[in-house]
Amino acid sequence: MSSLPYLKFAGPVLDEATIAGVGEVLRSGWITSGPWVRKLEEALSGFCGGRVVKVLTSATAAVEVALQLAGIGPGDEVITSAQSFFTVLNMIVKVGATPVFVDCDLVTRNIDLSAVEAAITPRTKAILPTHWPGSLVDMDALFALARGRGLRVIEDAALVMGSQWKGRNVGAFGDLVTFSFHPNKNMTTIEGGAIVVNDADEAKRVDALRFHGITFLPDRTRDVAFPGGKFNMPDVNARIGVAQLERLPEFLAVRRQLVDRYFERFRTDPPCLLPPRPVSADGQSWNMYSVLLPLEAMSLTRAAFREALDLEGIGTGVSYEALHLCTLGRRYGHGEGDFPIAERIARETVTLPLHAGLTPDDVDRVCAVVAKTIGRASRQ
Ligand SMILES: Cc1ncc(COP(=O)(O)O)c(C=O)c1O
Repeated sequence: MSSLPYLKFAGPVLDEATIAGVGEVLRSGWITSGPWVRKLEEALSGFCGGRVVKVLTSATAAVEVALQLAGIGPGDEVITSAQSFFTVLNMIVKVGATPVFVDCDLVTRNIDLSAVEAAITPRTKAILPTHWPGSLVDMDALFALARGRGLRVIEDAALVMGSQWKGRNVGAFGDLVTFSFHPNKNMTTIEGGAIVVNDADEAKRVDALRFHGITFLPDRTRDVAFPGGKFNMPDVNARIGVAQLERLPEFLAVRRQLVDRYFERFRTDPPCLLPPRPVSADGQSWNMYSVLLPLEAMSLTRAAFREALDLEGIGTGVSYEALHLCTLGRRYGHGEGDFPIAERIARETVTLPLHAGLTPDDVDRVCAVVAKTIGRASRQ
């Protein structure tokens, strides 16, 4: 058992000014969606090159609304990676469509676009890729493919707020883009998310889809023409989001400095498979530092490895289980061996501590404990 402070693998940095700001909102007499939601949406729009951004209670809600906005429902197919978070599978199924999985790249973990091309059928309506920290999906290839086939693109950008493609922020271009503001992400609203849309009509539809499906009539009554959800973000959360967005560049710089330190100090024998190494000023953001463990050369299971780190005061995560092998994913006819790379990542991945509240010394501590634990468990 370590006497050193416990290092969580993810978490937010909340300053006193933000906490005071929340107090002001609580005292203001308006705590649900109101002026702070509008302020956050304007600030996010500025961040996304002037495109319209709407905030919601989670990225999961944003993905559901994006699918509805794209008119996706029963009989439609949506292509997604077998290596992502449950949100993408769940929301495709929830709107009544069929998830079509493809495999991913072993190092970047991004969706394999050549496999996407092969998976397109006349029923395909959209591609739903998740961008991974450290390396975005190839946007030029993705949009060439989607536009050539008349498909919508819903980018799951939950992990990459602040990443850039050729100098432009993710969200500043493309089709529909969703972000998460969960406390483990690059910025937080406690729970929360956002969707970037294409025009005023789509924005109006999001307004209804996130609030009961309601539209307001000239006689000051209301109508519902389609069933909406209840996904509006409260002002208390939006107040936090405004403060967090202001500090995002600083948070991203700290994360990048910590990732550089990981690459400098992380050595194990046998070696782990590391994420793509950053090159200077490459515009990538780093939400997670996930490595693949050399399990076949170790006498420890991943669970035992994580337990050993936990006892040393180091938290870890698993990002992610293979979607096609969870009980819901198997309902679509899948089993072991269908997407070998996604499955290998699911077996071997471990996410190490990385957030803006850590120091380079914390990273050194993680690297030392990981090296010791893997070294002791080595079968070589
Ligand atoms: C890749 C990815 N997409 C979507 C989500 C969903 O985000 P939220 O918790 O805001 O619904 C997550 C959450 O962890 C995620 O990791």
